[in-house]
Amino acid sequence: MKKKLVVLTGAGISAESGISTFRDANGLWKNHDIMEVASIDGYQRNPKLVQEFYNERRKQLFEVEPNAAHFFLKDLEHNFEVAIITQNVDDLHERAGSSKVIHLHGELRKARSEKDEKLIIDWNKDIKLGDLAEDGNQLRPHIVWFGEMVPEIENAIDEVLTADVLVIIGTSMQVYPAASLKDYAKPNVPIIYVDPSDTYTDSSITHIKKRATESIEELKTILNIF
Ligand code: APR
Repeated sequence: MKKKLVVLTGAGISAESGISTFRDANGLWKNHDIMEVASIDGYQRNPKLVQEFYNERRKQLFEVEPNAAHFFLKDLEHNFEVAIITQNVDDLHERAGSSKVIHLHGELRKARSEKDEKLIIDWNKDIKLGDLAEDGNQLRPHIVWFGEMVPEIENAIDEVLTADVLVIIGTSMQVYPAASLKDYAKPNVPIIYVDPSDTYTDSSITHIKKRATESIEELKTILNIF
């Protein structure tokens, strides 16, 4: 019986694939505050600007590739039952071959009805005003915006509750409820945090102060696989 490894990832794991993180660019996009383009209020105020923000990020997906860290997590499936819980909306974990990926904040390559959050379709093009869902309402990105509920959080908590080891890679641990997931790990479950910065510190967890791709050898040692 394989041990269960749960991995919580954030923007940092995709940074080495060329996708900029949220808080490294001091939270700006073309001088727009993230809250203007990644919140339900921002969308209601200026839907065109928000659609453009996600259209640009969706287009970028076709220019980037998974990096060694994404592939390492897929390879861990030989040694562990792996569940990935990501805050990222890119598809790099899937493209690296990981078989279980929970997207807490949605997915760039999906769209949904403005009025029905369950009416979700695959969508790889720009979303334009006038692109409608089956229910006749405007399509919007299938992204969980600031101010919206996180439908997948219960599934994510269930995964962490049954983890034998928890690895956290590339997140500043500033956004909830994602940042609270580590608190659901059973006592004595080892928690390893991979991040080159000291933005987040917690004396109860092991901090590998390296970029994701540089942490692989140390992670292998800690996870006892060779
Ligand atoms: N390898 C590992 N970590 C890295 C790397 C790297 N190569 N480069 C940067 N990092 C770290 C940064 O030090 C930072 O702590 O990744 C973290 C990225 O943090 P954020 O930019 O805050 O991204 P994230 O934590 O994923 O943001 C959470 O906030 O904006 C919302 O919904 C959005 O999902 C996002 C959420």
